[in-house]
Amino acid sequence: MLSIRLKSILELIDVHDYVADIGTDHGYLLIGALDKGVNFVQGIDNKEGPYKICCKNLERAISENKAIVTLNDGLKEINEKIDTIVIAGMGGELISQILASSIEKAKKLKKIILQPNVRTYELRKFLNDHNFSIVDEKLIYDMDKYYEILNVRFDENHLALSTKELIFGPILLKKKGELFIQKWEKILNEYEKIVSKNSSNKPIDKLNNYIILIKEVLN
Ligand SMILES: C[S@@+](CC[C@H](N)C(=O)[O-])C[C@H]1O[C@@H](n2cnc3c(N)ncnc32)[C@H](O)[C@@H]1O
Repeated sequence: MLSIRLKSILELIDVHDYVADIGTDHGYLLIGALDKGVNFVQGIDNKEGPYKICCKNLERAISENKAIVTLNDGLKEINEKIDTIVIAGMGGELISQILASSIEKAKKLKKIILQPNVRTYELRKFLNDHNFSIVDEKLIYDMDKYYEILNVRFDENHLALSTKELIFGPILLKKKGELFIQKWEKILNEYEKIVSKNSSNKPIDKLNNYIILIKEVLN
């Protein structure tokens, strides 16, 4: 049974995609992709434990030549058939590093689905600085946490994002859905509590700037 988070990622995968899951761990997302009708998947993990578990979970698909599992770092040994990658369940900085270390391969991909657990601003900044456009964005709520899922691709004519778009997400900011409002109201509440309890000035300045920005977006 896939989590809401993995199901939401799976929704962005089309049956015609050739999908590699970087940092696949158990390989559950790829099992979901194969069940959906995807023809070929690649699980990649740089640690032996998850690699072995993924091999076991994908055993049948491997024997039917519908899947391969690779013990390696990032996109280094991505199969030539792959046109879509998923990097999910890691921090935004690690996701950026993985993309940066194989940037030429990343540029050629049809679809890149990213789900950072934290540091989404840093990931959007990296994408923006390297001419990757955010084609779509989703905000979901799973197990008491908000997650952002980004569907991106390299685009030479990419339009630079503003600081506000980097923080809130260009598409999420436009949509301003119910969950988006809930999330930022919660963060606003937390920041206001911290500010009201704290008497020192320095770190509070940054929080106060955030509070002003969030209020501006919510109003
Ligand atoms: C927290 S798990 C996320 C699993 C799955 N992607 C998900 O979203 O549920 C992160 C996985 O990424 C793997 N990983 C971390 N850095 C990696 C890298 N540079 N290349 C390949 N795998 C990596 C870890 O070994 C681990 O299995």
